Amino acid sequence: MTYKAEYERSINQPEDFWREQAEQLPWYKKPTRILEKDEKGAWRWFVDGELNTSYCALDYHVENGRAEQTAVIYDSPVTDSKSKLTYRQLRDQVATFAGGLRKLGVEKGDRVVIYMPMVPEALVAIYACARLGAVHSVVFGGFAPHELAVRIDDAQPKVIVSASCGIEVSKVIPYKGMLDEAISQAQHKPDHLVVLQRPQQTCELKAPMDVDWEEVSKADPVDPVPVKATDPLYVLYTSGTTGKPKGVVRDNGGHAVALKYSMKTVYNIDPGEVFMAASDVGWVVGHSYIVYAPLLAGCTTVVYEGKPVKTPDSGAFWRMIEEYKISGFFTAPTAFRAVKKEDPEGKMLAKYDISSLKAMFLAGERLDPPTYHWLNELLPVPVIDHWWQTETGWAIAGNMMGLEAVQPKAGSATYPTPGFNVQILDSKGEQAPANEEGSVCIKLPMPPGCLTSVWGDHARYESSYMAAYPGYYLTGDGGKFDEEGYLFIMGRTDDVINVAGHRLSTGEMEEIVASHPGVAECAVIGVADELKGQLPVGLVITKDGWDGDPAELEKELAALVRKEIGAIACYRQTLVVDRLPKTRSGKILRKILRNIADGKEYQVPSTIDDPASLSEIEDAMKGQGLVS
Ligand code: COA
Ligand code: AMP
Repeated sequence: MTYKAEYERSINQPEDFWREQAEQLPWYKKPTRILEKDEKGAWRWFVDGELNTSYCALDYHVENGRAEQTAVIYDSPVTDSKSKLTYRQLRDQVATFAGGLRKLGVEKGDRVVIYMPMVPEALVAIYACARLGAVHSVVFGGFAPHELAVRIDDAQPKVIVSASCGIEVSKVIPYKGMLDEAISQAQHKPDHLVVLQRPQQTCELKAPMDVDWEEVSKADPVDPVPVKATDPLYVLYTSGTTGKPKGVVRDNGGHAVALKYSMKTVYNIDPGEVFMAASDVGWVVGHSYIVYAPLLAGCTTVVYEGKPVKTPDSGAFWRMIEEYKISGFFTAPTAFRAVKKEDPEGKMLAKYDISSLKAMFLAGERLDPPTYHWLNELLPVPVIDHWWQTETGWAIAGNMMGLEAVQPKAGSATYPTPGFNVQILDSKGEQAPANEEGSVCIKLPMPPGCLTSVWGDHARYESSYMAAYPGYYLTGDGGKFDEEGYLFIMGRTDDVINVAGHRLSTGEMEEIVASHPGVAECAVIGVADELKGQLPVGLVITKDGWDGDPAELEKELAALVRKEIGAIACYRQTLVVDRLPKTRSGKILRKILRNIADGKEYQVPSTIDDPASLSEIEDAMKGQGLVS
């Protein structure tokens, strides 16, 4: 099948196309109603189908010849340990842990928050929830207690599953204090906190609230619980434009069908092969390509508790590929920028045999042309940029390795993935011509696997994604097609930034910065950074009469953001300014500030209150080297 034929069929005959893909999964009840609108008017896939995602990814393979195949490879340079789990071992651990969760009161539809480092037990906990039909909500282990508390309040979990510590290169990060603080900050109180004691730092458990992982794992195993295809599998919070993260809801059926399809079509990975996504289970890349897709497809997945550099060196990824005969590797461009910084000529690669590798996949942020060219010259295999987001759960565009790979273009994510009707719309909602930048939208219905709602707030789903252009999903990215149909994603058009592949909200940072007693007003924007892609910078007006030291203020604001969001926010720089450009109604012109930082041209709006404030800010930012 050529790309063009497959793509056109997916758009013109979506029901036939996805019915066939659904045949690839073991359903308890095969769907006959493939695509319908629900009572809220949202498109839903496979509405009368029943399945269990844990069964599809584990039991099915155990029963069909893969019981002794390795399901999970764990490689942890930070603890100097390695291990493997077969499909049978993983299934058994999942079944008993699910039994333990049930004993703690977790049933179908209940939420479980999972806050764990990169250990195989994270997968056990996730699949145990799926087995029970419970809804997991994994929170990235780098988020501070406040962020965890916000998510606990929104998801209202019965149980939280965590570990005694995480490990960052050589730092041990104790989790228990952070968990206790998050639970005390949250209005909602879970019934239990399950803790995996790690030898690097154990913690004290207080019964009856705290329960040792070992205790939970002693329960009798339980069978998978059939759920509807449309029942939620998980909620994953992602940064929006306000301080409150959005709980992206993923269903069971569409998710399983889409991810299984993607393993062959997008990544060209066959059952039995090894796939590694160097990400974290707390991000969507980790959910889709560490936890679920490789196992749905009968492959081996890799849980890597380490970094691209310093654990112990910049050859870490090459070592992994050689040692585990990895066929497909996926990470964020920032990881390779870190490798390139330490090993500009790529000398480390010569020490390893990476002949198992079929292609290198990059996503999570724009693959900047210098990094693309560096990798492309270094590697003997195709380097594939593909574009997606937490909301879609799988690639919206890429160079389809399992269909018909085409000549890539630096800076482009190539073509839309089958199922995604990508359109560039101008401000009037009309299709932009080739080479003209506009708002990247997806014509409805989206394919299976994409978000079905915002947890507990369907109105927010409508207003954030569906209202701007009726009949289209708004991605929040700007971009263009060229005359050959290659898609170029140029960056966010809203207040979301991407720091080292981590999606963060400048709106949220503004709320934190504004809470400082010396700050009257502020805007936080993303500025270009050679290693991390973007870094947040605060533009701050201090309160009248404030006579503090700007250098001290900068330190205090950095500490405040670190405490509230976590170290991953990387907020360090603050610029004290006299004025911020505003409209006459008092709205800060953030889009213009973003354009200034990106070195882009901008038009001075007629509604601006004080045009001189723009040149003042531009000069101040240039003076600090903040304009790219
Ligand atoms: N738990 C606790 N702290 C964490 C953490 C975690 N899981 N992950 C990161 N942090 C901390 C880091 O220790 C660092 O703390 P510090 O300021 O005290 O040094 C801070 O957050 C910033 O981390 P990061 O931005 O990751 O910078 P880094 O210098 O440690 O590493 C890279 C840079 C590029 C190597 C790293 O960001 C990386 O590997 N990125 C890959 C991106 C990725 O996986 N993205 C997911 C989507 S694909
Ligand atoms: P996340 O939801 O964390 O995966 O972040 C999604 C956002 O990251 C997208 O909306 C884009 O802005 C950006 N992004 C992800 N992959 C790419 C890519 N390949 N090219 C350009 N931007 C990307």
